Amino acid sequence: MHKFALMAAIAAAVLCAGGIAMARLPSDAIGTPSPARFVADGRQAVPVSDPTRALILGEMRRMVAVIEAADEAANGRDWAAVARAARKAGAFQTFPDRATMELPTDFGRMGRQTGLAFDAIAEVAGRSDPFAVNANLANAMEYCVACHKTYRLTQKP
Ligand code: HEC
Repeated sequence: MHKFALMAAIAAAVLCAGGIAMARLPSDAIGTPSPARFVADGRQAVPVSDPTRALILGEMRRMVAVIEAADEAANGRDWAAVARAARKAGAFQTFPDRATMELPTDFGRMGRQTGLAFDAIAEVAGRSDPFAVNANLANAMEYCVACHKTYRLTQKP
């Protein structure tokens, strides 16, 4: 009896594993990740109005352009151009109160730190040190990654 129970457990485990393998088959077969990856989202929802969303996302796209410009200038060893590009995403920028009021405090803090990180790129560019510029670019991008892991925007009801 004991032996039978063990066999049954093994059979159940094998069937179960088979079931999982079967369930995964369609997406594995075409080499794409399981859709569960896209559904499971642990990020904090930040409800924003349409104008605030447009403002934030516009700033995001601008920051990508700044990174591209700064990196390209660094490749050409044009340190003045690196500094000019980086300052465009610096901490001098302020968002209108109506927008910042919709955002969590830590979101705003992280945004400001990102601006300071771009100012730091501009500062080290003055040293004409490619490694320092590169390290500070990477540092700035750590904020992009950290914030994107933490928040997502949703429609304000
Ligand atoms: C303070 C938080 C925060 C920081 C810092 C941040 N982002 Fe974002 N970003 C977001 C959020 C939130 C979204 C919307 C994500 C969502 O809703 O799924 C976003 C979206 C974007 C998008 C998509 C834009 C669009 O039009 O849809 C880009 C590109 C982007 N970020 C680039 C960057 C880059 C580059 C950096 C760093 C230099 C950066 N972000 C830093 C919060 C941040």
